[in-house]
Amino acid sequence: MGGRRYFLSDVNFDLINTYQVIQGDVEPLISRLQLHAQKHSSDYYYEIRSQHALDDRIEIAARFIYLNKTCYNGLWRVNSRGEFNVPVGSYTNPAICQPDLLRACHAALQGVDVRKQDFTELKAGEGDFVYFDPPYQPLDKTSFTRYAKADFGMEEQVALRDLCMALHARGAKFMLSNSDTSSPLYQDAIFKVETVQAPRFVNSRGDERGAVNELLVTNY
Ligand SMILES: C[S@@+](CC[C@H](N)C(=O)[O-])C[C@H]1O[C@@H](n2cnc3c(N)ncnc32)[C@H](O)[C@@H]1O
Repeated sequence: MGGRRYFLSDVNFDLINTYQVIQGDVEPLISRLQLHAQKHSSDYYYEIRSQHALDDRIEIAARFIYLNKTCYNGLWRVNSRGEFNVPVGSYTNPAICQPDLLRACHAALQGVDVRKQDFTELKAGEGDFVYFDPPYQPLDKTSFTRYAKADFGMEEQVALRDLCMALHARGAKFMLSNSDTSSPLYQDAIFKVETVQAPRFVNSRGDERGAVNELLVTNY
């Protein structure tokens, strides 16, 4: 009897490192986050933001969560050197350390294969289920797709679509979410495309936050 396999991957080192630290070292992570929560101020934010070359993986994960919870709009954006460059946000009581939530994630991640890798290196096959949460296809030319150093453009969207077709041929199931751009990407008969309303929290213009249409693409 084969057991179920669980994989979690992304090319963003900081994101994957955070999942790995929650998986293996959640208590020291909570202690470090409690310290950030006590010291939080605008000056402290910029001091921590400038620490681009930390060595310790727990410190790196605590910095990632701290900056994510206190930065402008919860946005993750890096410059051409891969350095996080979002300004501080204005929150009255940011949820910097949520021990119960972190411990629940720690429990859920046990036995999961968490690794930093490109989606093209995925090794799923018959019987596996894969969920893809890729950078959205831009709704217009100024939309933001730069989560990591390399951009995710139309070439990658097509490669991901082709990977889904290969997974289907190997007997795997997939689900992919994407923005609803009415582009002709998912026209093959294997794709079942549903339009759903999804809340959108990250937007540089507050008046454009709210529900947007998204595509849910599956082969089942
Ligand atoms: C819409 S976000 C999804 C965020 C993620 N699901 C999370 O847990 O926060 C898109 C993600 O795609 C990742 N990404 C961009 N290019 C990629 C690639 N070539 N292979 C794998 N992941 C990639 C980005 O780093 C980013 O985290």
